[in-house]
Amino acid sequence: MGTPVWYITTPIYYPSGDLHVGNAYTTVVADALARYHRLQGQPVLFVTGTDEHGQKIAKSAEAAGVSPLQYVNEIVARIQDPLWARLHISYDDFIRTTEPRHYRVVQSIFSQLRDQGDIYKGVYEGWYCLPDESFWTESKLVDGNCPDCGRPVEKVQQESYFFRMNRYQDAMIEYIESHPDFIQPVSRRNEMLAFLRAGLEDLSISRTEFTWGIPVPGDPDHVVYVWFDALTNYLTAAGYLSDPELFARTWPADVHLVGKEIVRFHSIIWPIMLMALGLPLPRKIFGHGWVLLGDTKMSKSRGNVVDPLALIDRYGLDAVRYYLLKEVPFGADGSYTEDALILRTNVDLANDLGNLLSRSTAMIERFNGGVVPPLHEASDSHLLSNEVARVYQVVEDAMNRLEVSAALTAIATLVRVANKYIEDQQPWALARQPEQREQLENVLYNLAEVCRVLSVLLTPFLIDAPQAMRHQLGIDEPVQGYQEAVFGGFPVGTHVRRGDPLFPRIESLAPANASASPDAEAEPNFITIEDFQKLDLRVGTVKRAEVVEGADRLLKLTVFDGERERTIVSGIRQYYQPDDLEGQQVVLVANLKPVMLRGIRSEGMLLAGSVSGTLSVVAPSTHLPEGARVK
Ligand code: MSP
Repeated sequence: MGTPVWYITTPIYYPSGDLHVGNAYTTVVADALARYHRLQGQPVLFVTGTDEHGQKIAKSAEAAGVSPLQYVNEIVARIQDPLWARLHISYDDFIRTTEPRHYRVVQSIFSQLRDQGDIYKGVYEGWYCLPDESFWTESKLVDGNCPDCGRPVEKVQQESYFFRMNRYQDAMIEYIESHPDFIQPVSRRNEMLAFLRAGLEDLSISRTEFTWGIPVPGDPDHVVYVWFDALTNYLTAAGYLSDPELFARTWPADVHLVGKEIVRFHSIIWPIMLMALGLPLPRKIFGHGWVLLGDTKMSKSRGNVVDPLALIDRYGLDAVRYYLLKEVPFGADGSYTEDALILRTNVDLANDLGNLLSRSTAMIERFNGGVVPPLHEASDSHLLSNEVARVYQVVEDAMNRLEVSAALTAIATLVRVANKYIEDQQPWALARQPEQREQLENVLYNLAEVCRVLSVLLTPFLIDAPQAMRHQLGIDEPVQGYQEAVFGGFPVGTHVRRGDPLFPRIESLAPANASASPDAEAEPNFITIEDFQKLDLRVGTVKRAEVVEGADRLLKLTVFDGERERTIVSGIRQYYQPDDLEGQQVVLVANLKPVMLRGIRSEGMLLAGSVSGTLSVVAPSTHLPEGARVK
C-alpha cells in the first residue's frame, strides 16, 4: 500500500481576477504546513488550484469579449506564475476544474449518486446569490439578502437536479459530535451543528440558465452546480478513479484549509457527498479567519485588495511570508496594515534575528579568528539548549494544531532569549579575562549553534533567510530534516563568513498624503528644548513582572532605575508575557506624578511604540547602566 501521504489542500480559487493578500494568506499557511511535514520526513501531497466554472466567470468572460476558457487561461497562468512562483508556494499538484481528469470524476460521481437514488430531478424555486453562486430558500435569507455575504439575491425557478442531503442529516450530526477535531476552530463547529440541527433541505446541484460548466451526464441541458464540481477537486487530485494506488495512500485528506465563509460547504455538503459515495471523510476542516483591511474583509468584490506581488517588490519575499504567517492569529481575523508589516520586519527580523546572527558571527571572528570553537563542559551550558528543546516542542505542538502563528511566536522567543544570553554573558568582558577562555568559547559555540538551530526551525516558513543564515555560519548543506533543530550539532572548526545584514531595516515610507514641505506661514505645534527637558527619562531594568488580578490589560512591573526599585503599572499585558520582560531594559518617565491603578501605586511610565494591533517597549540598543538619562 505504501506510506500514507499527508494530504493538505487550499480552496481552489475563482480566477475571476488577480488574487490578493487574503488569498495569498491561505496559500502561504498551507505551504508552511506542507514544508513542515516534508521536513518531518513525511510524504506530502499539497494541492491548490482554480475553480473555473460558473455564471460569474462566464459573465466576466463575456464582458471581456473572450471565451470563458480563454479568459481563465490567462488569469490561471498568472496565478501560477508570477503569483505562486514568487511566493515560493511548493504545491505538488495544481488542479484546474476545466481539466479532463476532473470532468471524468465529477460526471462519474454524479452518475453514481443518481443511479443509487441520492440525486433526483425536480423544480427549483428560490433565491440565488450571484456573487457567491449559492442558492437559498426564503427562510434562510437575512433581511431579504444573502445570509453569507449580505448582498441582494435574485428570484429563480427552474428544472434542476437535487441532492438528497436530508437523508444524511442525522448521520452528519452524529459524525461531527463524535469527531471533536473534524471542524476547527470550535466556534465554527458549533455554528455548523446549529445549522444542521435547524434542518437540511435537498440541494439544487444543476443549472440550466448557462452552459459554462461540466455537463450532467445524459442530460446536457444541465451543467453541474459549481460547488458540487469544485468540492470534487479534492478527490480528483488524490487520484480517485484514476490512480487507485495513489488514492489509497492519500485519502482521506488530512486537512482542508478554508476561509471561514466557506466552512459550511466543506463541513456539510462535502462530507455528505463523501458519505453518499461510501468514502471516508477528511480528517480536518480548518476554517481560518480573514485578512481585513481596516475592519472589512479584503475581497475582489469589495475592491479593497492589496497585491501580494507589490509587497514582495517593496519588502522582500521573506518579510511578506513572515508577516502573513505570524500576524494573523490562526482561526481569528487579522487586520492588514503596511505599518504593521514594516514593524514586524524591523523588530523580529532585522533587529532580533538579524542582529543575533551578525553579533554572533562578528564575535566569533573577533574573539576566535572566525572559527566556531568546541563546547566545553560547563555548568551553565544548558541555558540555551534547554530553551531550544522547549521551543522545538512548542513549535511541533503548534504545527500539529495548525497554529502557524503560535509556532513563529515561539521561534521569536528563542531569538530574544539568545540575544539576552549575549547581554548576560557579555562575551566582550570574558574576552578580557584569559582565565575565562573556556567560558568564552562556550558562549561563542552556543551562539553559533542557536543560529544554526534557528535556520532549521525557520525553514518551513521562510525561503531565503534560512539559507543565508547557514551561509554566514559557514554551513553549505541545506536543511534535510526538522530533527536537525536539536541542540548540539554544530560542526566544530567551521569558519563563519560574515555577510550582509539578513534583513535590512525598512525605513517607513512617507504617508501618501503627507504634504511635501511644511507650510512656512502656519506655526506648527513645536515644543522648545526646555519643554522637553522637563521630562526625566531614564534607563531602568525590569526586575519582576506580574499579572494584575482581574485586569487583563495590566502588568505590574518592578523596575530598578539606578537608585531604587519602583512599581510601574503598565497597560501592555496583551503584548507581553511577564517572562518576556524580566531582565529587559526599558526607558521610563521617572518624574510622572504617581497614580493609583487597581489599588497599586504606579510611580512612572514605560515608553513604548505602537501601531494598531502591535506594541513594542522602547529599550536602549545596547546595554546601559540603570539610571542613564535619556535625552
Ligand atoms: N472557489 C471557492 C472555493 C472552492 S473550494 C472547493 C472560493 N474561491 S475564492 O477565490 O473566493 O476564495 C478562496 C479562498 O480565499 C477562500 O478560502 C477565502 O476564504 C479566501 N479568502 C478570500 N479573501 C480572504 C481574506 N480577505 N482573508 C483570508 N482569506 C480570504 O471561495
